[in-house]
Amino acid sequence: MKMKWGVIGCGGIADRRTLPGMMLADNAELIAVMDSNAEAAERVKEKYNAKYALDNVEELLAIDEIQAVYIASPVFCHKEQAFAAAKAGKHILLEKPMALTAEESMEIAECCKQAGVKLGVGLMMRFHSYHQEMKKLIAAGKLGEIVSMRAQLTCWYPDIPGNWRQNKALSGGGALMDMGIHCIDLLQYISGLQASKVTGFAETQTFSYNADDSATIVMKMNNNALAMVDANFNIPDAAAKCRLEFYGTKGSIMAEGTISQIEAGDVSILISDDSLAYDASQNREELVPVKLNVPLGNMYTKEIESFGRAVLNDTEPEITAADAIAVQKIVEQAYLASENGITATL
Ligand SMILES: NC(=O)c1ccc[n+]([C@@H]2O[C@H](COP(=O)([O-])OP(=O)(O)OC[C@H]3O[C@@H](n4cnc5c(N)ncnc54)[C@H](O)[C@@H]3O)[C@@H](O)[C@H]2O)c1
Repeated sequence: MKMKWGVIGCGGIADRRTLPGMMLADNAELIAVMDSNAEAAERVKEKYNAKYALDNVEELLAIDEIQAVYIASPVFCHKEQAFAAAKAGKHILLEKPMALTAEESMEIAECCKQAGVKLGVGLMMRFHSYHQEMKKLIAAGKLGEIVSMRAQLTCWYPDIPGNWRQNKALSGGGALMDMGIHCIDLLQYISGLQASKVTGFAETQTFSYNADDSATIVMKMNNNALAMVDANFNIPDAAAKCRLEFYGTKGSIMAEGTISQIEAGDVSILISDDSLAYDASQNREELVPVKLNVPLGNMYTKEIESFGRAVLNDTEPEITAADAIAVQKIVEQAYLASENGITATL
């Protein structure tokens, strides 16, 4: 059985990744696309063979056969559109961040609960096959106790006049809110740990927009492991490896290029028995890394199929609002720490 979708916001991510992913999904049928820019809606309708192209949400929500909407509009539009969709009885796959603030995200979750519609969030990097394998390895204790983790996501995002993402009032935040959110979510999801403390710096170093272009945060996890996330809009794509690293008392996992919109990258696993005895000579034996090698797919296809299954089988979505709200709270507290935190001046 196929779930019938409407899409709200036909810009960057919808057109570049999610709609191509939806076309490959085994349980999805695209019915209508909507964008405030009518030309964009019309172009995307033709490209993906939708039945309707619309330029307002009400008309899309009035289409009876649509069971679920994918909301990929700018963040400042999410709350109003999610409320309208929930009230129209449509299930919602909402792009990250869910809303401008964690408070608003909680209101959306409550509204969906009251309306009896399912709400999933677009933290699709969880569906990367390598990330799921890494999660299994850590859960099986292969790395021992996790003591340190790091995740990085960067891109080059220079000043664009009028751009919503470069204005915190319209986006909820810059590099940390936009990209760091995936990194924090992956660290928590893969390790199975939760952050219990956070501090950090969020700066606008390179560009002149009203949002952070550089952020680094440190989290203390609930097992006392320490974790670092860096998110930058001011490092060229080609100059960063988007590393994801987990270190434990028995080994490590180092991934390059898996934090991405494309399911790809390279993962090296090192398992050592150093934990058994202290090596007084501190000779570092050369371990041969094991490379992860499992079939890769399309994270957006998996995201669409997963949410479709949740609706069609009436089960909990795999990526819930609670997951996304927990991450958004960490980002907000990191921003507060950056603004008000106590730091030692060197
Ligand atoms: N999960 C991911 O991989 C990923 C990647 C990029 C962006 N995103 C998220 O997707 C969302 C959209 O980001 P983007 O990069 O595609 O933005 P974008 O600016 O490229 O596209 C947004 C689109 O929404 C349209 N729009 C503006 N106001 C609207 C309204 N009121 N109703 C409907 N459409 C409206 C614009 O015309 C544009 O076509 C954001 O929440 C962003 O964080 C997720």
